Amino acid sequence: MKIGVIGAGYVGLITSVCLADRGYAVQCWDSDERKISLLSSGKSPIFEESLEPLLKKNIGKNFSVENVSKMPGKLKDFDVVFVCVGTPSRQDGSVDLTQIYSAADSIAMGLKSLGGGKRILIVVKSTVIPGTTEELKRYLEKKTGLKSGGDFGIAMSPEFLREGLAVKDFFYPDRMVFGVEEKKDYALLSSLFAFVKCPMMETDLKTAEMIKYASNAFLATKISFINEIGNLGKKLGIDAYEVAKGMGLDSRIGPKFLEAGIGFGGSCFPKDVKALVAKFKQEKISAAVLESVMAINEKQPLLLVEVACRREGSFKGKAVGVLGLAFKAGTDDMRESRAIPIVNALVSEGAKVIAFDPEATDNARKIFGSKINYASNAKDVISKCDFIFVLTAWPEFKEDIYGSKHVYDGRRILPGKSGGNYEGICW
Ligand code: UDX
Repeated sequence: MKIGVIGAGYVGLITSVCLADRGYAVQCWDSDERKISLLSSGKSPIFEESLEPLLKKNIGKNFSVENVSKMPGKLKDFDVVFVCVGTPSRQDGSVDLTQIYSAADSIAMGLKSLGGGKRILIVVKSTVIPGTTEELKRYLEKKTGLKSGGDFGIAMSPEFLREGLAVKDFFYPDRMVFGVEEKKDYALLSSLFAFVKCPMMETDLKTAEMIKYASNAFLATKISFINEIGNLGKKLGIDAYEVAKGMGLDSRIGPKFLEAGIGFGGSCFPKDVKALVAKFKQEKISAAVLESVMAINEKQPLLLVEVACRREGSFKGKAVGVLGLAFKAGTDDMRESRAIPIVNALVSEGAKVIAFDPEATDNARKIFGSKINYASNAKDVISKCDFIFVLTAWPEFKEDIYGSKHVYDGRRILPGKSGGNYEGICW
């Protein structure tokens, strides 16, 4: 079976390299020449620790990357083509489908020249609002004059991988969801992924789309929920982590995603919750829960600054250390990082911020520029500042390296600590 993957971003790259590593012949297409040459030389454009060894092992053997302009002429050689392009947020929070439709145009060109001579299965993996894949199907039918079902197949299989754990999540997911219109397409996909030992669910296209959004929105809801409980707990002298421990023993709740802190960032939760709320609004249905989830997440980071200012007064003219800038440990990604509003608040308060992150410094420079100073290690920050904000749970920050400095912890970095010069946002 020959696999095509459109898009060499997070999902596309992981899908390509991991399927190639399982012995499939995989061709990945992208429009970014810089990314194409980086990948062709065995270098990963994204920070994903376990990816590069797999990339080096497979590139040039059963995995290659080329410009998407070459795809239409080669479509006849493929059996399954995954659409893994980006679906960023628009200003109003709704999903921008530009890349989806430019991929569709390339596919249409290829299908048209095939003229129904070979049935290819098109599988949308990008996160798209319910109804999108069906619209895409109709678009392809209109552009090619072909009929889905007989001339080509269409399916939707959402990706659930987490940044920093992407390869592990690809090979060991909790479940795989295949939205199909034809039983034979479910059979094809479940055999393609037979190496993955997990429950496989067959459903329709828009249910598969909704499962992705509802899963991310629910996980984000758990986080905002425990943060709200933590904010009350802070006032009452109750530790949110102790509460979460007791809650998590209930099998209906579970212990995961109940870690209170400065909130959720990343390229998915904020984007997907906003997109779902936009869809509610478009259908004129109340999204009260999810709007509150977003509102809590917007306010949460600044509560840590409030906690610190309550103890220290103003930070104007003071050297303030920030440890951790990425939206979570294990990645260099700063998209929607909760560190961003905190650093901006400290800078506008007049603090002289000195920051360190083991991986995200280059991305931080693109956001903060010369507004802040950048250290090359944690000890350097601690030696120069009396006040330290810890905003990403990197393992090295868990060491007790703080001495008598005043520590403001947004990620429960020192679980045993309490009182003295240490204070947590919700504990
Ligand atoms: C998430 C989903 O987990 C994944 O299934 C989906 O495919 C993409 O979005 P990711 O964004 O990589 O993955 O990160 P995740 O590990 O889920 O963390 C998201 C954010 O929530 C991070 O900022 C993290 O610090 C925060 N978080 C997570 C909490 O604040 N508390 C928690 O208990 C868990």
